[in-house]
Formats: sequence, C-alpha cells, structure tokens
Amino acid sequence: MNYIGIDLGTSAVKLLLMQGDGKILKAVSREYPISFPKPGWSQQDPRDWYQETMAGLKELLEGSDRSQVAGISFGGQMHGLVALDARDQVIRPAILWNDGRTAKESDYLNQVVGQETLAKHTANISFPGFTAPKVLWMKENEPENFAKICKVMLPKDYLAYCLSGVHCTDVSDASGTLFFDVEHRRWSKEMCGICGIREEWLPRVFESYEPVGHLKPEAAAELGLPEKTVVAAGAGDNAAAAVGTGTVGDGACNISLGTSGTVFISAKSFGADKHHALHAFGHADGTYHLMGCMLSAASCNKWWMDEIIGTKDYAKEQGQATKLGENHVFFLPYLMGERSPHNDPNARGTFIGLTMDTTRADMTQAVLEGVAFALRDSLEVAKSLGIQIERTKICGGGAKSPLWRKILANVLNIKVDVLENEEGPGLGGAMLAAVACGEYGSVAEAARKIVRVAETIEPEKGLSALYEKRYQQFREIYPVCKPLFEKLGC
Ligand code: XUL
Repeated sequence: MNYIGIDLGTSAVKLLLMQGDGKILKAVSREYPISFPKPGWSQQDPRDWYQETMAGLKELLEGSDRSQVAGISFGGQMHGLVALDARDQVIRPAILWNDGRTAKESDYLNQVVGQETLAKHTANISFPGFTAPKVLWMKENEPENFAKICKVMLPKDYLAYCLSGVHCTDVSDASGTLFFDVEHRRWSKEMCGICGIREEWLPRVFESYEPVGHLKPEAAAELGLPEKTVVAAGAGDNAAAAVGTGTVGDGACNISLGTSGTVFISAKSFGADKHHALHAFGHADGTYHLMGCMLSAASCNKWWMDEIIGTKDYAKEQGQATKLGENHVFFLPYLMGERSPHNDPNARGTFIGLTMDTTRADMTQAVLEGVAFALRDSLEVAKSLGIQIERTKICGGGAKSPLWRKILANVLNIKVDVLENEEGPGLGGAMLAAVACGEYGSVAEAARKIVRVAETIEPEKGLSALYEKRYQQFREIYPVCKPLFEKLGC
C-alpha cells in the first residue's frame, strides 16, 4: 500500500507519496504567504494551509492508483496558535512559532507563575514562541477574539481536523504548548488553571503513530481517495523529521536546517534539562527527546541570498566562500530574536568584524558559520548534561549545501550523516501513517527498514581546531550585545 506524508512548513507545504517499502513515488510542494505585521510578529492564515494542502494532494495523486493509498499523516510547524470558534471557524490568523510578540506574557509565566512551577507541570519553561503565552496575549490584547475560543489547535492538527473531522493532536506537538504534562503524556489541568483556559478547548492527544480516524466523506470524494483512508496523528515537524531520518533510540541526533534550526536528541526515558535551555518533549516513537531550537537557520541564508545580495544561485555564491576557519567576519543569526539557548526575543541579526577587505563571499560564509556556531550552543548544553554526541543526521533545505555540511561537521566536530533522502518531516509523516496502518510494527522498525545513509562527512583535525577558536570568539559576542539589543528595542 501507499502512504502520504504532509509536511506543513512555514514557507510551504511539502507532500510526498511513499510506497510501503519506503520508496518515494512523488513529491510536490506549494507555497503560501507569511505576514510580519510588526517587527518580530509572524502570522499565517490556516485556511491557506488547507487550500494549498488540498491542491497539493490533488497534484500529488495525479496519475497514481488512488485506491492504493492507505494512510495520511503529518509533520507540522510547531507551537502555532490556531484558535477556533464554536463552529470550528478560524478566529484570527495563526500566531506562529517564530513570533516574538508574547515577551510580556512569557515573562509573566516564567517570573510570576515561576519557572519551577512550569517545569513541575510541563517539564519546560515558557518561550515567547510557545502556545500558552500566545493564548494569554489574545486574552489581554484581543478580548473579543478570546471570548470566541472553543478550540485551541496546532497547525498540522487543523489540517487533520479538516481532513478527518476529529479534534486531535499528538504528544510531540502537544509538548510545545506548555499546557502539556510531557512526562505523563497528558494535558496538565494545573496549566489550564494557571492560564485560565478550559481543558475541553484542547484536542484529544494521540501517540504520533496512532490513527485518529478516517477521511471525511467530502474530503475523500474531493481527492478521489477511499473513505477508509486512515488519518494518523503525525508529529511536530522536528519529531517527524527525526522519524524520517531514523533518529530513534537513545542518544541519536538529528539537525534540521530549515526555516528554524534544531538539534534533536532522542532519549528512551523522560529527562529534562535543569537549566531549561533545551526543550524536553515527547518523541513520535512513544519515547522522549531534548531539543534546542534556533529561530532562523536556513532562513538567514535565504534572507542573505534573496533579499540582500539578490541572487538565486546559492551554489555559485557559496563556491566563492573559501576562507574556512579563517573568516574574520562573524554573524549573529538572530533575525527573529532567539530561542535556544538565549530565550531572548530582543536579540537581532548582527555582522561584526567587517574591514575594508571584507568581501561578499566572507559575509556569505559568515552567515553559514553563524548558524553553525548557534547550533553548537545547543550541542554544548547537551554536553553539559553529560550527553555525548559523536554523529548526527542532517535534514532540511540547508542540508543540501555541501559547504554548509562541511562547516557544520567541523564547527560541531562530529560526523554528519547525509541521508539518501532528506525529506525529513514529510517522510516521517508517511512513515507514521504506515505504522498506523500496520505496515510496520513500530516506528523503530520503520526507521530501520526505510532510512539509508548515503554519505558521512567527517570533521578534519586542522579545520575543526581553527573552528574551535572561532567558536570561542563567537560565544563572547552575544553577551556583549544583549544589553544593547534590549536598549535599542528594534
Ligand atoms: C521547534 C520550533 C520550530 C518549528 C519550525 O520548537 O519552533 O522548529 O517547529 O517549523
């Protein structure tokens, strides 16, 4: 049988059709707009997601035997607030994971409710991108909208609802709401009380590989799919990417270089970072993970290429970057503020160290290096918890760049496994659907049978020593800039 994986990203929805043995038969992608109505704000219309997903599904299925499709599932951008009214209509644009407007509400949760209380009930502290501070923001700033709320959904769960009619979510995505007791994999009544929301506003929680229902007859008819097509819960995009890259089991690592940049470390049993720089979330295979998330990763490179130097030829531009380990320009990649490990919505993108001989290529290289250094910040937190990482998988748009992969291997000083297929979240979604339909007995089995490493990038002794020195310098820049970012308030 065949399975569909839907990766509901920030810039586009990517859909793929996977054969039961893991072969990808077809992949399509459709973009939708994102709006930044104020600095640090970030919104999308959930109806655009659904419209483009349906159009993408039709394109994906064209010319294929639709009766062979057994299941559909998802990987989706996390944390976004989709508020629905009593008729399940979208109340306002979704407030996304990289939106920093909720600094005040997040500070209230961390400082007045207290980090200890939050950690006790949810295993995490608050970050402006998480869902709970967004709900508090709506309560304070849009009371008429808040009064209409009957359901609080996450982005991919809105799609699952439109396709199946079931209000559902999964453990990995629920983990990022701050309404969820991660250790016990259930909603936290205490957090609902603290935030003044009703537990019935929250959807039913499933494991990522569980079926939530079947396609609604209208959706099945529109797509020409069997009504018995299973809709499985799916996962937040990082957990789905981890499934798609085979990052399951204890201490396995995946780095995603998408709009966000994440370091994802799977763990058999529950454990939290006592400093809360890394998120402690549920994994899509029924276990747990720790994750560091930077808000702008491949998006820094896209911004630099598309908006600033105005080129689409990324490979040519990167071909000129030859001063590996010796660049005297640094870039702080905080174009949307930063989550891990700084938790600072005021942080901003910054070039430092420019001189008259600085070239465009130096700055291109600095952007790639800045992202790699910032990912290392999260890896350092993991090291401080006693977690030793020797190798990582890599996925996301940025993973296609050989130069960036080499920089990462040397900045992190670990082996980087490049996969035959880096369709991370979409493939993970399809694999979760396959498990939900019984094609595989477990997520681990699906990962073992489907995921293949194509190439391993080894760190080079001399280069990683040069980067070690540069990283130690990079680390000193943010603490000096921090008070200035706060003062400038731009
Ligand atoms: C993870 C996070 C991002 C989004 C990107 O905590 O906020 O990785 O999921 O889609």
